[in-house]
Amino acid sequence: MKILVVGGGAREHTLVWKLAQSPKVKEIYVAPGNAGTAQIAQNLDIKPTDIDSLVKTASEKRIDLTVVGPEATLAEGIADKFLIRGLQIFGATKSATAIESSKVFAKELMQKYNIPCAKSVSFSDYKKAKEYLQQQKAPIVVKADGLAAGKGVIVAETIPQALDALSQIMEARAFGAAGDRVIIEDYLSGREMSVFAFSDGHTVVPMMAACDYKPAFDGNKGPNTGGMGSYSPPPFLTPALAKTVREKIMEPTVKAMHAEGRPYKGVLYGGLMISDGSPRVLEFNARFGDPEAQVTLPLLETDLVDIMLSVNDNRLAQMKVEWSGDACVGVVMASGGYPGSYKSGFAVSGLDNLDKDIVVFHAGTKAGAKGEILTSGGRVLTVMARGKSLAEARERVYTNVPRIKFEGCHYRKDIALIKEG
Ligand code: AMP
Ligand code: GLY
Repeated sequence: MKILVVGGGAREHTLVWKLAQSPKVKEIYVAPGNAGTAQIAQNLDIKPTDIDSLVKTASEKRIDLTVVGPEATLAEGIADKFLIRGLQIFGATKSATAIESSKVFAKELMQKYNIPCAKSVSFSDYKKAKEYLQQQKAPIVVKADGLAAGKGVIVAETIPQALDALSQIMEARAFGAAGDRVIIEDYLSGREMSVFAFSDGHTVVPMMAACDYKPAFDGNKGPNTGGMGSYSPPPFLTPALAKTVREKIMEPTVKAMHAEGRPYKGVLYGGLMISDGSPRVLEFNARFGDPEAQVTLPLLETDLVDIMLSVNDNRLAQMKVEWSGDACVGVVMASGGYPGSYKSGFAVSGLDNLDKDIVVFHAGTKAGAKGEILTSGGRVLTVMARGKSLAEARERVYTNVPRIKFEGCHYRKDIALIKEG
């Protein structure tokens, strides 16, 4: 088969790496990819939101299956445009992607179908939102409705902070039309976890769950990022909790989407808060997580191509999806200054000096004139190690990370350092 992967981050490098392990796969193209994907696939200079060029390329190259990484591509309606032309694609349709691209839609769905989530009210009028907020107690959460590259959620510790966030979103329009509507939501405390499931619109097959670290610095300090590392599986995900997540959240959500005329095919990603053993949804995403894909897909033992085809053909119920009992830890190495402004073009060294079971997934990298690897983005690499236990994987990854060097590099030293309780 010929595969096309859309996207250029470490999540997409992981997808390419995993898909390449399938005996069914002969050729893989990536749009646009990075220096890491170029080593195992063919990069194409196409933007992930340039749907027309992606359609054209998939037809011309006779691609058998296209796999989508980023939410922006899904929200543009890539799946609909491929399906109309009879092209196979793994990714949610535009109307199903609303579960991620509109937080108001997701909230209304959860409220209508009794899917556990934080109490919230949505507003399209700035003055009304402001009045409501002035009567609330902090901490409180303000969320822009639309896609905002992970920046549209503000957990405010005081009401003035929340009012400022509201004004940024609705008055200054910091996220453009994504801020036409807002959600004001109760603050939930507890432990966060990302859960994933394959869905063909009817059947739900849970994937490995993972924990993600969004703040830039150790101890969850500093500004939020796209994710500085992750590990799988979460030790606090007991079989009982997994059952609750499946029966109270993932299955009802897929059923609800079906009932709403938005059949959900692809990967459903739930960002959950676990408080006193009970899970509640913070958000849904319509795709694999980044950096969660880097630590969950390596544990998948079933052929990923087979799973994706079974999703597309509505026969997921017949698939036996198996996972290794191992653990994975992924540490993101970022450019100095990220998630603020940073410089690029620095040489990355040490990649050839790693233990043999370490996998480096590239994100912001490009090849230099002599084939050397140069930095070209905020998040540069995810370094991933596997072990029999999280402690073993963690030890392996942190033995290797310091061997990789580039000017200004920073990474968290506390990924998968798990506090008891
Ligand atoms: P989201 O994009 O909705 O997952 O929000 C981004 C981050 O904001 C989450 O990973 C949480 O850390 C935090 N967050 C979102 N909603 C809440 C909430 N209701 N209570 C506490 N923290 C939240
Ligand atoms: N890990 C966060 C995300 O993929 O949205």
